[in-house]
Amino acid sequence: MNNASKLNPVLFVGGSGVVGRRAVKALRDLQPHLPIRIGARDVTKASALAREVGHADAVRIDLERDDLGLPPGSAFSAVVVLLKDDSLRTLRYAQDQGVPYVSFSDFVFDIGPEVALHVQRPTAAPTLFLGHFLGGTVALATVHFARELAKVHAIRISAVFDEEDVGGPAALGDMDRVAKGVPSPLIRKEGRFLWATSEADITRTFQGVDGTPWNGRAYPLLDVASLAAVTDASDIRLDFALRPASRRAPGQGPGHEVIIELEGVKADGTPSLVRHALVDSDVHSGLSGKGAALAVERLLGLTGGAPVKPGLYSPEGVLDAAYVVSRLQEWGTRIHRV
Ligand SMILES: NC(=O)c1ccc[n+]([C@@H]2O[C@H](COP(=O)([O-])OP(=O)(O)OC[C@H]3O[C@@H](n4cnc5c(N)ncnc54)[C@H](OP(=O)(O)O)[C@@H]3O)[C@@H](O)[C@H]2O)c1
Repeated sequence: MNNASKLNPVLFVGGSGVVGRRAVKALRDLQPHLPIRIGARDVTKASALAREVGHADAVRIDLERDDLGLPPGSAFSAVVVLLKDDSLRTLRYAQDQGVPYVSFSDFVFDIGPEVALHVQRPTAAPTLFLGHFLGGTVALATVHFARELAKVHAIRISAVFDEEDVGGPAALGDMDRVAKGVPSPLIRKEGRFLWATSEADITRTFQGVDGTPWNGRAYPLLDVASLAAVTDASDIRLDFALRPASRRAPGQGPGHEVIIELEGVKADGTPSLVRHALVDSDVHSGLSGKGAALAVERLLGLTGGAPVKPGLYSPEGVLDAAYVVSRLQEWGTRIHRV
């Protein structure tokens, strides 16, 4: 028994959305006694979710106010923000409270203002970047699989999503923002970071788990930067393909698959090329929400060591990759070599 029940509530801003409700439920599954507060504009909807998960309540959030519209004296153990807060009031709020902050909706080109706010007050709060693909679960699985190699030369991550698996209105808004504002994805190519502009660099054909060829496009997520920092692989990229709903297996919902391909050298010097697959039957917000829940319990020190100290973090700097992979398997994601 840990001290979860004695902590202040974890505030999930956007906790009633497609990914939010999954994050809240996953955290409840991990920590049955941890108080949770679900923040949104529609309190009726958030309250219904709070009743469903238990030890939870709902609160109206006003992102136009510095106090987020919360009553004076409100106190939280962590602030998790599952929407794009382009004012960063939520980060200032977490810094003022001196509690962990999870940023979930930032692409690789988005993080400058958060870095600046952290640099101003570096000892105020632990700030975790978790805009990574599927809430950091894929980056962590990649770090885990990379451990069997002495040196990683290339990392190619591929994902196949159902065309109807688009998330809620907030996620659609983000997609629109990326499509209009920043068309170039970040890749690492021959040891250089490249904001890819040519079709040859942006696109890649890859093989799905069952051998189906897919045409993927790179996407500006944080994974390339994080995995480059951990492995120093000279070629790293992450590509998505959309599967028409008509090609779902009979009777199946909009599940997704991710293939992590690692090329490098083993400890005995022999070359190695391995492919691992993560196959999940939920929409992609399922794994993403689980990633957020695993991050929160670790930041609070409810598993894997003491509470995380103030600093700027990426998931692989906070979470134990092997633990995350085994947890995802327990929750039902199929993870295997292909
Ligand atoms: N890192 C990752 O792996 C990952 C994966 C999936 C999604 N995402 C990101 O997560 C975010 C949520 O996606 P989603 O599919 O869950 O979207 P969604 O279903 O539209 O959920 C948005 C949530 O935020 C609340 N909200 C929206 N605007 C608000 C405002 N102005 N003030 C207060 N609350 C507000 C909504 O409730 P009300 O409408 O009641 O306010 C709802 O709870 C998006 O930014 C998406 O890009 C990240």
